[in-house]
Amino acid sequence: MNVPEFVDAKAAGRPLSMLTAYDCLWASIMDEAGVDSILVGDSLSMVVQGHDTTLPVTLDQMIYHGEIVARSVKKALVIVDLPFMSYQVSSRQAVRNAGRIFKETGAGAVKLEGGVKQARTIEKLAECDLPVMAHVGMRPQSVRKLGKMSAIQRDEDQLLADAKAAESAGAFSIVLELIPADIAKMISEEISIPTIGIGAGPHCDGQVLVGPDMFGLSGFQPKFLKKYADVRKIALEATKEYIADVQARKFPDESHSH
Ligand code: KIV
Repeated sequence: MNVPEFVDAKAAGRPLSMLTAYDCLWASIMDEAGVDSILVGDSLSMVVQGHDTTLPVTLDQMIYHGEIVARSVKKALVIVDLPFMSYQVSSRQAVRNAGRIFKETGAGAVKLEGGVKQARTIEKLAECDLPVMAHVGMRPQSVRKLGKMSAIQRDEDQLLADAKAAESAGAFSIVLELIPADIAKMISEEISIPTIGIGAGPHCDGQVLVGPDMFGLSGFQPKFLKKYADVRKIALEATKEYIADVQARKFPDESHSH
């Protein structure tokens, strides 16, 4: 999947699937299953590094995980998040740091948070032929201003203005996070590039979930999340069984010995 194919899916009426991954094991499983796109999200900061917000993760850490994922994926479009304060200072800073992501990871696109306020930066990235996805609605990097990560964004005029500004500036797609379903539907009809929803209802052109949440690994359970497996429970039970086997000298047995 490349960027033009991703964009064309909207006109073809084909819903796009996207998941986040941060390492080769999960990225290769998702790729083998046929997901359209894998996002190395800055949610890495929370689900991998254990922070409360996405603010601490650094550009070098995003590049480290982005390179691992891009190397492990054969088909899906790999997108890497520009982390907090790696693009907000100026469009020059954004081009330089996005350039590092492309050169050092092999990813197909980058993502940044913002619409109207980031339009000039999106334009600069697009001018350098660096495909960029925008992210409007709940923007986790703005958590200090928005108050909490779960703040549903309802300002219809602002949301539409953000989406249109990102599209006009040259973004190839937009994530819509935590916005009412009817507003996401209206935005998806108003713009020509694919909208990818998370907590934005069923009318977006595609959907994204955080991989460890969707697999039931993280224990996070917001209203919008459908858990497709309970991997945490399976891993917990397997670990307890292993500990009990070791303590009872049941493992290793003959069959696992040389
Ligand atoms: O960082 C991330 O995982 C994201 C998704 C929630 C879209 O930005």
